[in-house]
Amino acid sequence: MDSSAALSERESRDRELFDRIASTYAKKDLKPAHRIARKLRLTQTLKVADFGPAPRVMEIGCGAGFAARYMEGRYGAFVGIDYSEKLISYAREFNRNERATFEVVNINDYEPPEQFDVVFMIGLLHHLDDPAETLTKVLKHLRPGGWVVANEPQSGNPLVSWLRQMRKKVDKNYSDEQLEYARGDLRAIFEKAGLTDIKIVPQGILSTPFAEVSMPAQPLMAPISYICCALDRVLESALSPILYSVAWNLVAAGRRPA
Ligand SMILES: C[S@@+](CC[C@H](N)C(=O)[O-])C[C@H]1O[C@@H](n2cnc3c(N)ncnc32)[C@H](O)[C@@H]1O
Repeated sequence: MDSSAALSERESRDRELFDRIASTYAKKDLKPAHRIARKLRLTQTLKVADFGPAPRVMEIGCGAGFAARYMEGRYGAFVGIDYSEKLISYAREFNRNERATFEVVNINDYEPPEQFDVVFMIGLLHHLDDPAETLTKVLKHLRPGGWVVANEPQSGNPLVSWLRQMRKKVDKNYSDEQLEYARGDLRAIFEKAGLTDIKIVPQGILSTPFAEVSMPAQPLMAPISYICCALDRVLESALSPILYSVAWNLVAAGRRPA
């Protein structure tokens, strides 16, 4: 990233954290128990937006770039951006393909040459200083009618909130600045950014711990993760409206006005 690009204090701390934990972070997607849960979170997130075949896709805060691999064959072009140089160098080495490229850049400074059909982010909004302001800029990089989709931690389940507080105390690789959103918070951010056709749905009940926390004993954990992912797929499609007080995350989707 251009070293002259100014970062806020919070952004500097955050980028330093992700550079420091990059190699551990990238390894999560290489372990079977975590890979299936992370892939499920991605597919359940993108499912909320309805876009056509072979879209031009941008992922903001793409980390080690595994979404490009999980979605391979489903996009015309994939651009992953992240301000962690270490994560992007990993993404370029292992997840680049002829349609997928990665850039080290702060989303607030990014000026892509072409517009996208879909811009998505997983666990990114709560790292931003002003999410609505950033999404307003992102809207310009989207074709009219194109989708923004975000998956974020939610505050609807007190047990999950307590577990996150505990994790902050014991896991030095987990950001202290982790936030949770209520449904209304995400809707307000999307509305303020000028998005329309906004949808908010709950995501992740049993599978989310496997998507987030690196676990030992993979031969034991992998089958448990498979079962949890299968159950979540069913629960999320059959019971979505009543999962707001249970799920770990919310997916928010909205469109750039046509
Ligand atoms: C919680 S991680 C999520 C990574 C990945 N999406 C995943 O699901 O594993 C948040 C990522 O966003 C990146 N990030 C945070 N703020 C950013 C910004 N302003 N511009 C670009 N990347 C940013 C961080 O470096 C980090 O890789």
